[in-house]
Amino acid sequence: MNVKFASKTAKAIPVHVIESGQLRAWLKTAPKGAQTWVKSAGFTARLGQVLLLPDARGGIAKVLAGWGDDAARARGRLHMARIATKLPKGSYEIVSGLKAKDHSEAALAWLLSSYAFDKYTAKSGSVAKLKPHKSVDRTHITAQAEGDFLTRDLINTPTNDMGPDQLESAFKKLAKQHSATVKVIKGDALLKQNFPLIHAVGRASDQAPRLLDMVWGKDSDPKVTLVGKGVCFDTGGLNIKPGASMGLMKKDMGGSAHVIGLAHMIMTLGLKVRLRVLVPAVENSISAGAYRPKDILTSRKGMTVEINNTDAEGRLVLADALVLADDEKPDLLVCNATLTGAARVAMGPDVTPFFTDDDKLAKQIEKAAGLQADPLWRLPFWEPYEAMIEPDQADLDNAPRGGFGGAITAALFLRRFVEKTDSFVHVDMYGWTPSPLPGRSKGGACQSARAMLAVLETRYG
Ligand code: BES
Ligand code: MN
Ligand code: ZN
Repeated sequence: MNVKFASKTAKAIPVHVIESGQLRAWLKTAPKGAQTWVKSAGFTARLGQVLLLPDARGGIAKVLAGWGDDAARARGRLHMARIATKLPKGSYEIVSGLKAKDHSEAALAWLLSSYAFDKYTAKSGSVAKLKPHKSVDRTHITAQAEGDFLTRDLINTPTNDMGPDQLESAFKKLAKQHSATVKVIKGDALLKQNFPLIHAVGRASDQAPRLLDMVWGKDSDPKVTLVGKGVCFDTGGLNIKPGASMGLMKKDMGGSAHVIGLAHMIMTLGLKVRLRVLVPAVENSISAGAYRPKDILTSRKGMTVEINNTDAEGRLVLADALVLADDEKPDLLVCNATLTGAARVAMGPDVTPFFTDDDKLAKQIEKAAGLQADPLWRLPFWEPYEAMIEPDQADLDNAPRGGFGGAITAALFLRRFVEKTDSFVHVDMYGWTPSPLPGRSKGGACQSARAMLAVLETRYG
């Protein structure tokens, strides 16, 4: 997909951003005809409202963009996307009314509004192009939008075209684009090389389970490792999901889509890090060979896991991948996963919880989340719940009974596999926009990648 701003030399239609409280003042300076037109059209500068002002030859002279007030804007983000989607094809330039610090978010919102998933049917997002304010770093914003679109595309593609095979292809395609190296451990090789949990979860599928491993950058730079859940479809396994819960489970590779999108941003912008991306790519399927409830599996780390629900598969595949990641003791280890329904119940689709023991990192994430309009909220690795993940007959329980604190117990489970790394963060995202929002079409969503990019830029910039 084409993620593009208008060229620097394009002739652009001026856009005046007007807060509802400023409309009167603005009108006073406007010509009589414009004043009447604003009144007859009922333009009140409500947030997202758009009014085109014609020129003498019937073209568009300028655009008035309603910017509402603080309270209205506080109820969302990326509001400029509402304006962009209402404009006809052409080039536009925001010439007044926007605070200097808001131009970057506006430019990002504008680009994000152009997304449409058009793989299977003709669709288009906004067709208006922005000539961004001179303070906007075009390359930076474009890289973010490209990463976001890549994530959305991967999630939106249905499993018949996005199984472990195709996820591997997408992974390799990105690596090739940025001259990164890729290693794949697949099928029985997972057993030989000691990734038993990845194998167990994925072995019932027609497409063999695998671990995708990408490395990029200079070895002497700080190591950043991203691990993403790549469950291409989650039937729940033998503890099969009811139909309604299974419906969206093509998005259960959202964690991997996310780290792939973030990796694109990092490599495009050339951050000074040695990046590693690990994706356990599997389908949690059902067949005679499927793993079962009450199986006791030995993980890569040696800890045994009692399977109490084959639908708690994400933490299993991630556990083996995290152990491999942790071996190198990276400077920062980020895990992304559509891990629990409990995180959704707690936070809803739009606020993404994260877990870390590193308070400094937590602060960096919170700050970046605010600045990047990419909301994240810290939840605790609540130690007293450790007992809940310890069953009778094994070291760990993958699905504590009752399900209380499900997002926390899943996070605690993952943490058991990270020992050496000081800065570990686990992000339990939804990866989906249930109904359209500014800059976010219905469907696959990229959540936390832009905030994480900003964190990396602060740490390693
Ligand atoms: N992929 C799901 C989690 C999920 C469900 C994310 C719905 C977003 C929306 C995960 O594999 C899962 O099924 N988790 C179970 C765990 C339980 C069986 C302990 C859950 O959260 O219900
Ligand atoms: Mn599941
Ligand atoms: Zn899952």
